[in-house]
Amino acid sequence: MPDVVLEVEDLTKHFTVRGRGVVRAVDGVSFELREGEVLGLVGESGSGKSTVGRCVTRLIEPTGGTVRLKGTDITHLPQRRLRPLRREMHIVFQDPSSSLNPRMDVGSIVGEPLRRHGLARGAALRDRVAGLLHEVGLLHEVGLRPELIGRYPHELSGGQRQRAGLARALSVEPSLLIADEPTSALDVSVQASILNLLVEVQRRRRFACLFITHDLAVVEYVANRVAVMYLGTLAETAPHEELFRSPKHPYTQALLSAAPVPDPAEQRGRQRVVLTGDLPSPLDPPPGCRFHTRCPLADERSRSEVPALRDVTGRGHLVACHQVGDDGTAPSIVERAASA
Ligand SMILES: Nc1ncnc2c1ncn2[C@@H]1O[C@H](COP(=O)(O)OP(=O)(O)O)[C@@H](O)[C@H]1O
Ligand code: SF4
Ligand SMILES: [Mg+2]
Repeated sequence: MPDVVLEVEDLTKHFTVRGRGVVRAVDGVSFELREGEVLGLVGESGSGKSTVGRCVTRLIEPTGGTVRLKGTDITHLPQRRLRPLRREMHIVFQDPSSSLNPRMDVGSIVGEPLRRHGLARGAALRDRVAGLLHEVGLLHEVGLRPELIGRYPHELSGGQRQRAGLARALSVEPSLLIADEPTSALDVSVQASILNLLVEVQRRRRFACLFITHDLAVVEYVANRVAVMYLGTLAETAPHEELFRSPKHPYTQALLSAAPVPDPAEQRGRQRVVLTGDLPSPLDPPPGCRFHTRCPLADERSRSEVPALRDVTGRGHLVACHQVGDDGTAPSIVERAASA
């Protein structure tokens, strides 16, 4: 088995908001990520995905739990001691502008981490930067090397900015890349090319990737394993094929039933389950199973007892639902909806 790169254990992040109370953005999330693996973290907006990514990279401080990077507990490492480990993990955001200094040109932006970590300078640095820009398709796209390297972020298109951000992230050869909705702000046509690039680069370099998105189609395209998040907790996590072929958690089933499929005939024949109600507020999450206010199968136990995330196949298919059996048998909410 490939080495574990990231271990997240019982991670919580609570924000205290003055006058409003405590936002339980993340509440007891555990997962691990191995070399070469892409874990797609999917869930509705507000379910806590970005907070997980920001806690893992220590951009914000976790309230509880443990984060280990290649075996080192980094949860409480002071920023000074975290600095050398910064090479090992990089995060790219929906809006790459936040990591692209507007006063630096592309060449300086991409080369900056290499300089900061003392990995290259002078001609070697220029070569490395050119190589990285070529890898992310920027040299080819624009043609003239010196012209592009000298451009500033505001002179680039959204897709070019995301490519530059990726080149910068890759410059120090991280073991872990966290991509937080990296294509959500782009035009649909550009989205596909950036996703292709990410997949291609990840397959070549084999880093571990935590890919955060609200879009199931994107997860289906990029991930080898999927974790479904609901209101600060994980509902289900499984290898890619298994999750899409046999979703067990009622929430996952509902998400998949609502996702469009390419074949119109299949689309017409499909039974969709529309979830009623909005995502409850993480200021006051429902007791018991957090999904019970919207779950068509909720019962008394769901309302009082928190379901544990447990492996129901012995092959890494984990589900947090009382009604999924220890042998993996799961009630179908689609059938339930059809008979109702
Ligand atoms: N700094 C913050 N202060 C207060 N609440 C926050 C803060 N950051 C995020 N939240 C809240 O935490 C919840 C999860 O947010 P987020 O992790 O951004 O979700 P997602 O990325 O899944 O859309 C949301 O209710 C959001 O409003
Ligand atoms: S525990 Fe109950 S409410 Fe939660 S997903 Fe399972 S059936 Fe639905
Ligand atoms: Mg987010």
